[in-house]
Parts: sequence; structure tokens; C-alpha cells
Amino acid sequence: MTRTMTGRDRFLTAVRREQPDRTPVWFMRQAGRCLPEYRELRKRHPFLEVARTPELAARATLMPVDRFGVDGAVLFADIMLPLESMGVPFEIQPGVGPVIADPIRTAAAVDAIRVAEPEEGTPYVLEALRLLRRELDGRAALLGFAGAPFTMACYLVEGRPSKEYPSTKAMMYGEPELWHRLMRAITDTTILYLKGQAEAGADVVQLFDSWLGLLNVSSYREYVQPYTTQIFTSLKGIVPTVHFSTGTVQLLEAIGETGPDVVSVDWRLPIDEAWERLGHRTGMQGNLDPARLMAPWESIRGAADDILDRVDNRPGHVFNLGHGIMPQTDPDKLARLVQHVHLGSAR
Ligand code: CP3
Repeated sequence: MTRTMTGRDRFLTAVRREQPDRTPVWFMRQAGRCLPEYRELRKRHPFLEVARTPELAARATLMPVDRFGVDGAVLFADIMLPLESMGVPFEIQPGVGPVIADPIRTAAAVDAIRVAEPEEGTPYVLEALRLLRRELDGRAALLGFAGAPFTMACYLVEGRPSKEYPSTKAMMYGEPELWHRLMRAITDTTILYLKGQAEAGADVVQLFDSWLGLLNVSSYREYVQPYTTQIFTSLKGIVPTVHFSTGTVQLLEAIGETGPDVVSVDWRLPIDEAWERLGHRTGMQGNLDPARLMAPWESIRGAADDILDRVDNRPGHVFNLGHGIMPQTDPDKLARLVQHVHLGSAR
């Protein structure tokens, strides 16, 4: 067996597609409502106050590292935070999600969007990363993130969570020139934001394109892919990158072309099949169904073993869920799952 690595080494080795001592693990939405200590913190502070106060954000980030022993510490923040620096006020409504009172639907609104440096627009995000880099001291890789242009455009144009995002698609198909201007502004902000996070100490950055599954491949290529590609190209050599989406079986090859170091997939395809479709040119993150965690341990273990069997020690795997932890998940099962993946993949 190889020397035991720190969580950070394990994660970064996998991202380079070399062989770590065991498979690194983290969970989408690990710092959130499934943890009693997080719910306690939230009784005293509203969500955005936690996200905008570096000491509180750092505390929430460390909770799942302490409790689950995960190899990745995802910054406690939200994809909506940079909107403030873009001049777009928003709120997060409990049980609803992000809401923008004045959605961006006109040329005047698109042209009013500012592209700001993160030091000026979201200094608290950078400060939280600096604090965490010191506190983690290699225990886990520090993960920064941003919303991808398409998913950000969905919130900006629709103004609130939606199933189909009809206003967003109406702009994309009906006013393509305006759409491209909007995507350009979001892309420019995102590049500055992620570069700032890397400078402040993020080891890896993840780009969340949560609503990408709404598109077919030709729309993706025309309206979205160039922007995603530009983001990953700008970060090459600066910080390793992960592309995240769900429900995108139809887009996998096109996502691979955008140039991330790792592609995160949900549970809809077996992980080996998804990796094969990507031509094994990237690392692979995933892909347990978060609802599986509602089942008894034997069922969870079986599904985790199936993922490890399919990966079959191919270097470049980061174990994760296909989407976020559900708030009703039993945290003890998550801790057990981390141990199980570590033991089951020990090399
Ligand atoms: O562990 C982590 O992943 C913590 C950090 C994190 C949050 N949001 C904290 C949060 C991350 C990585 C995000 C990303 C995010 N935010 C995405 C992309 C990932 C995905 O889920 O697809 C999206 C689409 C958002 C927008 C957003 N913010 C939603 C949909 C919600 C949930 C609304 C709800 O109440 O169900 C939020 C709020 C939010 N962001 C919460 C947390 C912990 C819940 C707020 C609370 O504590 O009440």
C-alpha cells in the first residue's frame, strides 16, 4: 500500500489523473441543512449573513470536514453572491431559493451589468478562502466555485427558480444578440471571480451548470459552449477545474470539449459509460443518487461498491453524489460512506 496521503494530496492527485492512496470523497451540499450544527448556526444568523461573514462561512465550511472526514472542503457560499457586484440585487427565500425582484430582460438591463473585480465586489469570499487555507492546513482540498453562465442567466432572466425557464429560453432563441451580450458579461465576471478565488487559496474550482439539462446539443453549442470553454481556457495552468451539471446525458461529449480537468455526472448513466463517452480525456466525479442515502446502509453500500467496481481503479475519480445532499439525510450514513469508500479503494 502507498503512504497515507492528506485529503488535499489525495484530491489533487486524482485531479491530475494520477493514482492517490484512496479515492477522494466529498458531497455536494455537504455544508448545509442535514447537519444539526449548521441548523444551530442558522438559528442565530440568516443564510446570507453566514455567507458574507468570513469567520462564519469558514466555520460552516469546516463542519462537514470535521464530521464526515471528506477530502474536499467546499467553500460555504452561493452561486448568487457575485450578482451584488454586478449591480443586481437578490435575496434567498427560505424553501424557494434565489429571487431577483427586477429580472434582466431588456437591453438596458443587460448593458447596466457591471463587471467587477472580486476584491471589490465579494471581498468576504476571498477572505473566507484565506482563513480556510490556513485552518485546513492540508486536511482537505479547498474548493472554490461559481455558477456557470447558462445557470446564472437562468436566474437573472427568470428572476426565480423555475422548471422550464421559459423567459430565459425566449431571450436565447428570440433575441440571440442580447443573449450573447448577457453571457459575455457573466463570463467576464466569472473569470475574474474564479481567478480571485485561486489567488486567495482555492485548490480547485467547480463551475456549477445546474440547469444545463434543459438544452439539446445544438442549442448548447450555439448559445452556451463558447462561454464555458472560455472560462476553462482562462483558468488553464492557474487552478484545476471541475464542470458540474445534471441531466446532461445528451451533452456529455460537448461538455468534455470545453476543457475542464474533471467532469461531474449524475446517476443517470453508469459512471464507466459516462467516462467512456468522454473518451477518458478528463477526470470523473460522481455519481451516487442522493436519494440512495434514504435507503438502509446495505443498499447505500451496494451502490457505492458498484461505482468503485465500474471505475476499476482508473486514475482520476472523485467520489461524490450526482447532486446535492437532501436536508433529511442522516449525517451518520454520510460519515460511514466516506469511511467505506476510503477502505474500499485503499491501494
Ligand atoms: O456544501 C455546499 O455545497 C455549500 C455551499 C453551496 C451553497 N449553494 C449553499 C446554500 C453551494 C456550492 C451552492 C451552490 C448553488 N446555489 C447552486 C449550484 C448547485 C446545485 O444545487 O445545483 C445553486 C443552483 C444555488 C442556488 C440556490 N441557493 C438554491 C437552489 C438554494 C436552495 C434553496 C432552498 O432553500 O432549498 C440556495 C440557498 C442555499 N445555498 C442554501 C445553502 C446551504 C440553503 C439556505 C439555508 O440555509 O436556508
